Amino acid sequence: MSIFKRKKHLETNSMDNGVNIITVSAPNSVNTEQFNTIRTNIEFSNADKQIKSLVLTSATASEGKSTVAANLAVAFARQRKKVLLVDADLRRPTINATFNISNPIGLTNFLTGHSISINDIFYKTTVENLYVTPSGPTPPNPSELIGSKRMEKLIVALQEAFDLVIYDAPPVLSVTDAQILATKVDGTILVVRENKVEKEAVKQAVGLIQHVRAKIIGTVLNDASGVAAGYYGYYGKEK
Ligand SMILES: Nc1ncnc2c1ncn2[C@@H]1O[C@H](COP(=O)(O)OP(=O)(O)O)[C@@H](O)[C@H]1O
Ligand SMILES: [Mg+2]
Repeated sequence: MSIFKRKKHLETNSMDNGVNIITVSAPNSVNTEQFNTIRTNIEFSNADKQIKSLVLTSATASEGKSTVAANLAVAFARQRKKVLLVDADLRRPTINATFNISNPIGLTNFLTGHSISINDIFYKTTVENLYVTPSGPTPPNPSELIGSKRMEKLIVALQEAFDLVIYDAPPVLSVTDAQILATKVDGTILVVRENKVEKEAVKQAVGLIQHVRAKIIGTVLNDASGVAAGYYGYYGKEK
């Protein structure tokens, strides 16, 4: 038996090249329509209160969190909502690459440097009404930063400044960041990639989110062969 644990190879394509924003490159496609449907489902998921902040997470890496987060952000922005997409996956960020932002100032700069204001960390994109906050340089203590008081205050401030804030978070089974964020927003969406993740892992992820009493408002099934003529399915919370 080897004493060395084999390190799992994690895909880095979306960190290097960004994710595919099909809602922009193919606005009339079936996939764009599916993202619009997911948007509508989210809007109607809570009758009592308008959803103003969302966390997107998954059980494991590379299930499509960043892809779904970016496309959903576009779908909401197209409804004339002022939307902010925040790269809260500090270990595997994608937003700089996806939106071609060359300025590295982002979330971690705000959380560690007191001279940086909230206005310094969001950027306009080519999509009207859509703004993004990149992760900033990777810190040695990501979970500590995500769990900090300063992060908590930022979440409240951003919710005031935008109609909707979407946090692209790390996977639940790797680190605690998504669980922490989930407790501070209006709703959590679990992205599940078909044929990529074991059912048991998804169950564990749901358990961890529920354990902190966060609210899962729905699940997005990514890369789904069973969904007619497309890739994305949405399942609301069972009533
Ligand atoms: N439905 C899909 N069809 C094909 N490729 C996809 C799909 N969803 C995601 N990908 C690809 O899978 C990789 C991981 O996606 P990403 O959104 O970065 O996942 P995560 O943020 O969960 O790590 C990327 O290269 C992305 O382009
Ligand atoms: Mg990602």
